[in-house]
Amino acid sequence: MTRIVVTCGSGGVGKTTTAAALALAFASRGDRVAVLTIDPARRLADALSLKNVGNTAQRVPTPEGHLDAMMLDAKQTFDELVSRHTASPEARDRILKNHYYRFVSERLPGVHEYMAMERLLSLAAGEEYDVIVLDTPPARHALDFLAAPDKMAGLMDEGVMRWLVLPASAGGWRMIEMGSEVLAGVLKKMLGQRTIEDIAEFFAGFQSLWDGFRERSLATRELLRAPSTQFVLVTTPAPGSRAEALAFLEVLQRDGLPFAGFILNRCADAPPERVRWPANEPPLTTSLLASIDDTLARRKRLVDAQEAVIADLLAHAPRGARAWRLPDSDTAVSSLDGLARMGRLVGV
Ligand SMILES: Nc1ncnc2c1ncn2[C@@H]1O[C@H](COP(=O)(O)OP(=O)(O)OP(=O)(O)O)[C@@H](O)[C@H]1O
Ligand SMILES: [Mg+2]
Repeated sequence: MTRIVVTCGSGGVGKTTTAAALALAFASRGDRVAVLTIDPARRLADALSLKNVGNTAQRVPTPEGHLDAMMLDAKQTFDELVSRHTASPEARDRILKNHYYRFVSERLPGVHEYMAMERLLSLAAGEEYDVIVLDTPPARHALDFLAAPDKMAGLMDEGVMRWLVLPASAGGWRMIEMGSEVLAGVLKKMLGQRTIEDIAEFFAGFQSLWDGFRERSLATRELLRAPSTQFVLVTTPAPGSRAEALAFLEVLQRDGLPFAGFILNRCADAPPERVRWPANEPPLTTSLLASIDDTLARRKRLVDAQEAVIADLLAHAPRGARAWRLPDSDTAVSSLDGLARMGRLVGV
């Protein structure tokens, strides 16, 4: 089964950087790896020193292994889905050209997250990769993202979609008109006759796709909870990040998503116990010695506070959760080698 590692967490903590680092580390072990971002920012391309990352897989020039990077294009993914699952080229074109479909595939809230799940599922099913590393957008969206397959499955269960299909299939728009002239009037005024026809045509065209949608929603739900999937929560070890990380952990646990551990990104190094001054150099002045002591003491306090945050996070996490400390290092994040080394510090 394809292994899936999801990096999630609050905004700006280093999710994209660590996703790239993990992907490189897996590739350097000889795995066939895909790293997928649903973050519309171009950070993944930057982290992997690529000019651009798009919806189709782009090969990262790694010294070892096989690494492909891709950034989700929701509209293109939706189009491909329609093409794959419609019965005939005519049925496909009817949907693709429909105005309402264009609105749904480009702007409907949640469609981006849902398509990300579709993409993940088809990548996992393709068996082209041993590992898929999934980078997620900042927390608020990530929560939607995690809930997308459930929401979709819920919609199918409640039959809401089927209800929406009804008007076109059973002359239902006319029924609505008869049932409530006021409602029909308002709808027509708001949307226009053309749009209503578009919506009806869209739902009629989509009828054959609903069962597939539902099946894949459930499959994604299962995939996200499979033993081969691991969620890592990226956070900084600063006391100010604690509450947000815990809130995220709670959501993961509530939803039964497999939690592997915390990636504590941008950790400060522990200070040396004592600064050894070469014996052949003239001794330091008392004031310089005092200022060095002061710097070391400050650094020690920072590291102690960091460790207290990490201990607290682990105390709230399920048994067996790990904490991986990654250094704060501009040089490490600016080269593929440095990133791969950083990724190997995380033992997922
Ligand atoms: N360990 C590190 N050392 C130094 N710089 C880092 C480290 N990790 C991340 N950065 C830098 O921090 C910035 C934010 O990182 P990144 O884009 O990976 O965060 P993110 O969590 O994906 O952000 P967003 O929530 O906006 O998607 C980047 O400029 C990145 O280079
Ligand atoms: Mg990011």
